Amino acid sequence: MKVADTGSALREILKNSSAPRVLVPTMGAFHPGHLSLMHRAREIAGPGGSVVVSIFVNPIQFDRAADLAAYPRPMARDLAACEIAGVDVVFAPTAESMYFPDRSVTITENLLSRGLCGAARPGHFDGVCTVVLKLFLLTGCAAAVFGKKDFQQLAVVRRMVRDLNVPVEIVACPTVREADGLAMSSRNTRLTPVQRADAPRIRRALLAAAALDTPAEIIASARAAIDTSPLARIDYLALVDAETLQPVAEIHRPAILATAVFYGEVRLIDHVTIPAGQPPRKGDIGSPLPLGS
Ligand code: PAF
Repeated sequence: MKVADTGSALREILKNSSAPRVLVPTMGAFHPGHLSLMHRAREIAGPGGSVVVSIFVNPIQFDRAADLAAYPRPMARDLAACEIAGVDVVFAPTAESMYFPDRSVTITENLLSRGLCGAARPGHFDGVCTVVLKLFLLTGCAAAVFGKKDFQQLAVVRRMVRDLNVPVEIVACPTVREADGLAMSSRNTRLTPVQRADAPRIRRALLAAAALDTPAEIIASARAAIDTSPLARIDYLALVDAETLQPVAEIHRPAILATAVFYGEVRLIDHVTIPAGQPPRKGDIGSPLPLGS
């Protein structure tokens, strides 16, 4: 496995290889969810292709300096995990090597990124789109693997690829969950034991609400089940169309019930997909653990 810490070092490593590349863009602090992305990338690349994992805590997608500073960066452990997962190249650039101090170009998606996490974290998806496009260009990847947990990120990246004719296939992998249903996230390690014990209520609240009939009932039920906890503070809770990500008043097409919840300074996101026309009964979604939408 080779490791590059600048774009030019990466170019040097890749220059004599014509093997198709599959990129797994990450911010490190790996958990089994990341490993599942790497395994999928390895499958897609096949024996003749190569898997590139980027590890970069992208400063321009953070809206809160405290969140950026607290983001875990266990680089030695992450590199060991990449080696075991059969990764060929790790690209772990410094922020200085990624961004010119006077950079003046940003990629903005203007529709899907506006609500949900985009409304709660201004500039977040501009930062994501900008870094993802840079990573695509730097690695020259043919495909890139993303987790479905960040469904809004996935939708925004797909729209960027479509609208800008970016020749990269976007592959989505299911959310990986803890045994108690909590979606795996690098942020989970920052929860206190008491917060960690409470956090699976997010998944339970979404699942129970998704089994109800009307959008109003669905939203009210999920909100009440999360608000009952004195530890949890809802950042947003919304029912949106699965394709346009715009709020829906009726469920005629597949919809997504999505939330972001603060435990102290730690912000967790999760969602469930509600199929059109037939509210799922309990157990239809997300069961069996650990994989879900
Ligand atoms: O999902 C993430 O970890 C990040 O948003 C990504 C895609 C690596 C861009 O920094």
